[in-house]
Formats: sequence, C-alpha cells, structure tokens
Amino acid sequence: MPDAYELVQLKNGTWSVRSTAEGETFHPVVGPQAEAEALYVRGLRVAERMAAHQGGPWVIWDVGLGAAANILTVLRALPANGCPVRVLSFDHTLEPLRFALRHRAALGYVTGHEALVERLLTHRRVIRDNGPFPLDWEVHQADFPTLLNGPGSTSWPSPHVILFDAFSPARNPAMWTLSVFRRLRELAPPSTPCAMATYSRATLLRVTLLLAGWHVGVGHATGEKEETTLAANRPELIQEPLGLEWLRRAQRSTSAEPLHTPEYRQQPLSAASWSSLQAHPQFGS
Ligand SMILES: C[S@@+](CC[C@H](N)C(=O)[O-])C[C@H]1O[C@@H](n2cnc3c(N)ncnc32)[C@H](O)[C@@H]1O
Repeated sequence: MPDAYELVQLKNGTWSVRSTAEGETFHPVVGPQAEAEALYVRGLRVAERMAAHQGGPWVIWDVGLGAAANILTVLRALPANGCPVRVLSFDHTLEPLRFALRHRAALGYVTGHEALVERLLTHRRVIRDNGPFPLDWEVHQADFPTLLNGPGSTSWPSPHVILFDAFSPARNPAMWTLSVFRRLRELAPPSTPCAMATYSRATLLRVTLLLAGWHVGVGHATGEKEETTLAANRPELIQEPLGLEWLRRAQRSTSAEPLHTPEYRQQPLSAASWSSLQAHPQFGS
C-alpha cells in the first residue's frame, strides 16, 4: 500500500506535502510558507489586527490543520509582546502533522516549533507562557461539519480570523457546503470582528459565502492565483468587495449554485439563490 502522504518538490525548489489518497498537494505552486504568508499573513493582516486588538485573547480558527504550514507561519508572523493567542485547529486526521514533523528538515517551517507540535500531537492541547506571546493551542480531531453542528461548538471562543484550507470543492465537497459556511457565520457574530481567507476564487464558493451571510471580497494573490477570496462578518474588513460586475458574471456562470449536499456538481444559480444574492447588503439593495 502506498504511504498516505509524500513529499513533493515544487518547481521553485521548495518541498510540499501531498496526500496520495486525495491526489492533492497541500500548497501546490509557491510552497507552504510562501502561500501561507500571502494568503493568511498578508491577506488577513494578522499582525496589524492583532497589534490593534484589546481585551482578551486573539482567536484563530485553523480549519484543515493538515501539516500545519498555515498556522505555524501565522504564529511566526504575530507581534511579540502582544496579547495572548488562542488557536483552535481542526482536522479529522493528525497524520499529515506527524508526517511534517518527521520531514521538518525538507519542509523548513516546522523548525523552531518542534516542541510545540510534539506536545500538541501528544496532548491535543499545548499552553505556552514563555514565548513571544502566551499561546493556548488545541486541536479538535473530528469530522469538521459534524463538529460544527454538535453541541460543543457553541462554547468555542469566537474567531478573529479563520484560515480555511480544505481540499478542493471537487475532492472535498463536504467542507464547502452552504450549511458549513452558514454555521461558521453563526459562530462568528459581528461583535467579534472576523475575517476568513481561503485559496479558492470559484464563483460557487463566493456565492456560498454571500448566501451564508458573509461580506465577500477579492483576497490576496498567492503567486499561484491572481485572486483568492476574503470573507468577513463586518464590511470594513474587506478592502476589495465583490461588486455589481462580479454579480453579473455570477448570474451568467454555469457553476454558481452553492452545494446544498456534500456532493460536488456544477449548476447555474437557482431563481431563489439569485434573488437572495441580489438582496445581499453588499450590493446596495
Ligand atoms: C489542504 S490540506 C490542509 C493543509 C494545511 N492547512 C497546512 O497548512 O498544511 C486539507 C486538510 O483538510 C482536512 N480535511 C478534509 N476533510 C475534512 C473533514 N471532513 N473534517 C476535518 N478535516 C478535513 C484534511 O485531512 C487535510 O489535512
């Protein structure tokens, strides 16, 4: 049987993790650290937002922990002497993280964080008081959509940022349904300003986020993609909101209707979705 994960060397010479079962490379073009820096560190302006934050811990939800490139790169970018940081990571398997720890020399980004990762793997939670900022990092190992709808999710601290990194909608449709993003939005009330970044710019995803109640804009380029997607529970967190031109393209798109069940398919907007989309406050009606 082939190993579940393997290292792949990208054209720019960096190494990334690939899931052989899913046939997908975690950070396929510019590499783990460069993608995480573009999409999450710069795209979510994590350092600036955390530096300006007052009162209570700064909360990060890391959806699709995988090999931890995103979260470790974000932690490295946060300002020292800042407020306490609380991280909730989610994945149904910890195997990619074990794999990353074993292959830390090639991957690079784990270096310096080995003790944290080892403790997280052993105890599922690690509390650090002696680093650049106090850190409380826990991992929930479970099916994410099931966990979101379970009773425990209401006791999670509301997020300030969400790093959303599942496999692609075609491979991993259960993670991209309208109900997942609706529930995420319910758990991210605007009383805690929250921005969420993800690598996809698909019309289907953007419609899903809008219908789930998020404000949605163009996200930071990553080198692989000219555009990604940024969503937020408050409009002022979106620098480049999707506008009427995008809305007209969505109306004509052959793949815009959200996934209502965890099966991937492509469909144009239904009449009901089109009507809800036009009524979204982002489009001024
Ligand atoms: C692209 S990888 C994440 C890469 C990771 N963020 C990193 O920086 O290395 C996608 C992750 O989503 C996880 N995943 C996929 N479906 C899931 C589900 N239903 N529940 C929880 N995690 C899931 C996979 O196990 C995988 O680790």
